[in-house]
Amino acid sequence: MKNAPFTFELNPPEFIPSRYDNHITRRLSAMKGQYSNAAAFEAMLSKEDILLYEVYELKLPEVAGELLHGISIVHPGKVGDEYFMTKGHFHTVLDTAEVYYCQKGEGYMVMETPEGDWSVEALYPGAVLYVPPCWAHRSVNTSLAEDLITFFVYPGNAGHDYGTIEDQGFRTLVVEQDGEPAIVDNPRWTSPPVK
Ligand code: PA5
Ligand code: NI
Repeated sequence: MKNAPFTFELNPPEFIPSRYDNHITRRLSAMKGQYSNAAAFEAMLSKEDILLYEVYELKLPEVAGELLHGISIVHPGKVGDEYFMTKGHFHTVLDTAEVYYCQKGEGYMVMETPEGDWSVEALYPGAVLYVPPCWAHRSVNTSLAEDLITFFVYPGNAGHDYGTIEDQGFRTLVVEQDGEPAIVDNPRWTSPPVK
């Protein structure tokens, strides 16, 4: 039995899909080890396990041929100097791509390959970003006032590999320096093992 065609809407200012099946919430405690300033992370967590980002998804079969899609909302804030961001991941089926369409806010997509190539692209309303196959991706909200809201779509069989990024981190960080976002090297980044 095939899915029947369907339509839904993304309406400003919230952009929460008018139809969705899953609402995923990620709090600070889910990001242990991801922020470079561990002391700032622990200090913040001891006060409140704050909501960092949310995903609204439509449930579809996780098979090649389907296109999984939904909305990602990263709230504004910082841990130390580092802006709120998603965990970030490679796809389990590494050579699967993803498209992001920014609806609201400002930020960056931080990306890298298993070989250690990296790229950072700006996200702003109207920006369409193509994340090619094999590139890990993490969205970062550089506004301290507004949500960063993106629509995403990726192949149904892609899956999420979070472990690689949890172990090695991203090569680049987006931090606030003198009141402005800056892209800096991650001092704790470990290069991927030589294969
Ligand atoms: O598929 C994607 O890349 C997005 O839907 C992300 O899953 C979403 O932005 C949340 O990020 P993460 O899965 O890294 O926690
Ligand atoms: Ni993805």
